[in-house]
Amino acid sequence: MPIQTTTNIWHNGSLIPWDKAQIHVMSHVVHYGSSVFEGIRCYAQPNAASIFRLPEHMARLVDSAKIYRMPLPYTVEQLSAAVIDVVEANGVAPCYIRPIAFRGYGELGVNPLKSPVEVYIANYPWGKYVPGTSGADVCVSSWSRLAPNTMPTLAKAGANYMNSQLIRMEAEINGYSEGIGLDTNGYLSEGSGENLFLVRGGVLYTTPLANSVLNGITRSSVLTLAKQLGIEVVEQALPREMLYICDEAFFTGTAAEVTHLRSVDRIMVGDGTMGPITKALHDEFFGIVHGTLPDRYNWLTPVNVKVAEPVGV
Ligand SMILES: Cc1ncc(COP(=O)(O)O)c(C=O)c1O
Repeated sequence: MPIQTTTNIWHNGSLIPWDKAQIHVMSHVVHYGSSVFEGIRCYAQPNAASIFRLPEHMARLVDSAKIYRMPLPYTVEQLSAAVIDVVEANGVAPCYIRPIAFRGYGELGVNPLKSPVEVYIANYPWGKYVPGTSGADVCVSSWSRLAPNTMPTLAKAGANYMNSQLIRMEAEINGYSEGIGLDTNGYLSEGSGENLFLVRGGVLYTTPLANSVLNGITRSSVLTLAKQLGIEVVEQALPREMLYICDEAFFTGTAAEVTHLRSVDRIMVGDGTMGPITKALHDEFFGIVHGTLPDRYNWLTPVNVKVAEPVGV
């Protein structure tokens, strides 16, 4: 889906025109992938627009930067305020928000420490990511996720997405909508841009942080909702074949939201429809983000943007 431009982009403390947000080809990030970033959704509610879990996303950005010794000259609060500024200035909701910090134009050696840190925040209208409203047909990738102590998966770093690209391209070329990566020990890890959940015998399983996953904010939201709904939750290493014998499976992510899996490697998950535990979590999640259920965990940050048409659940 081509990017739909908006008017302003936030850069190092000021709003600049979209077309002026440019970098030099010799910037460090272009050559070595030295960026950390976030993906955040701003949802429409019946009479409002609100950003989902804004401080948590900005805290993860700060964590990602810390892992890469990239000093960010802004606090979580300042970054959150900057996101609100750019969203309100552009007046577009619902939208996707992309804050990014990277090593800019300075030196071209591998060591990034002499290259300046640049921070940008853009937003633009954006819709569904994993295609298929009746469930996603996915595969297990021939590519593994990042090995421990190579690329840190708790950092949402641009370079990690070279691995995601391999998984996603292979899946789409072979006729699937997404690929699931195993970790380097062969245990389930996550999709190219989503965390993975399975249900078997009424128990909700997800892969733990030690299996090369991003600490997904939607994942943590779903874990909170599951606990509140009284669903038993188990975070443990999961063998690949659990995908073939589970009753339900779904992805979570800012882009994917809660997307149920219809099949994995052409083996039907349950009867292929959204199972009851997935549906309960899906309905809670969408109820909160679309404002039809109360925001009981304070997950929404309101923004002063007029929404032409509220989205339906
Ligand atoms: C590799 C990967 N895993 C999981 C997720 C889901 O994380 P979140 O729910 O914070 O969007 C994402 C999306 O950012 C991702 O890129």
